[in-house]
Amino acid sequence: MFSILKYVLILVVPASVLLYRRFPFTFKETPVVTTPAQADPKKPLKSIMQAPREDLAPPKDDLYTTEQLKQYDGSDPSKPIYVAIKGTIFDVTTKKDVYGPGRSYSIFAGKDGSRGLGLSSLKAEDAVADYSTLDDKDMKTLNDWHAFFSKRYNIVGKVSDGPVIDK
Ligand code: HEM
Repeated sequence: MFSILKYVLILVVPASVLLYRRFPFTFKETPVVTTPAQADPKKPLKSIMQAPREDLAPPKDDLYTTEQLKQYDGSDPSKPIYVAIKGTIFDVTTKKDVYGPGRSYSIFAGKDGSRGLGLSSLKAEDAVADYSTLDDKDMKTLNDWHAFFSKRYNIVGKVSDGPVIDK
């Protein structure tokens, strides 16, 4: 009986400790790999859209006609790219990959395409400044876009000859 106890104390216990130190996971449960969202369900998923910026310049109120605005549609790489919403002109040059020629949202470059933004439409005929006939839901979409751009892009001016709409 004593010899078995001695065998356990002298051989098995130190061997187990050494083995445990060498391969700790063989003795533990397999760790569960979680994504950050699973680890903290309250944490919002990271958006793929650009984050709001803290370094925006003070808004400018330079005036541009609709005709002048066309120069800033990205077709001349030496010029910035502008997008206007409800008459406010934003410099979106940092997002050439999105607003540049042939890119997903180039339809909004060099113009005020408020109506299209409100309607969530990428059709050329909708990318116009007159948003007067949008319903309340589409007006909210348009105003949300205005807020989205205001937090991310510098305001370089206003469209001088756009439609005057009081909503
Ligand atoms: C299946 C439909 C659509 C998909 C999968 C989609 C996808 C996306 C993605 C991935 C972005 C982020 C782009 C980036 O920051 O690089 C984005 C941004 C945007 N989307 Fe869409 N979109 C869709 C439809 C539309 C439509 C119909 C409109 C029309 C108003 C629209 C307007 C915009 C605008 C203005 C941005 C903001 C780009 C920025 O300045 O950061 N999208 N969309």
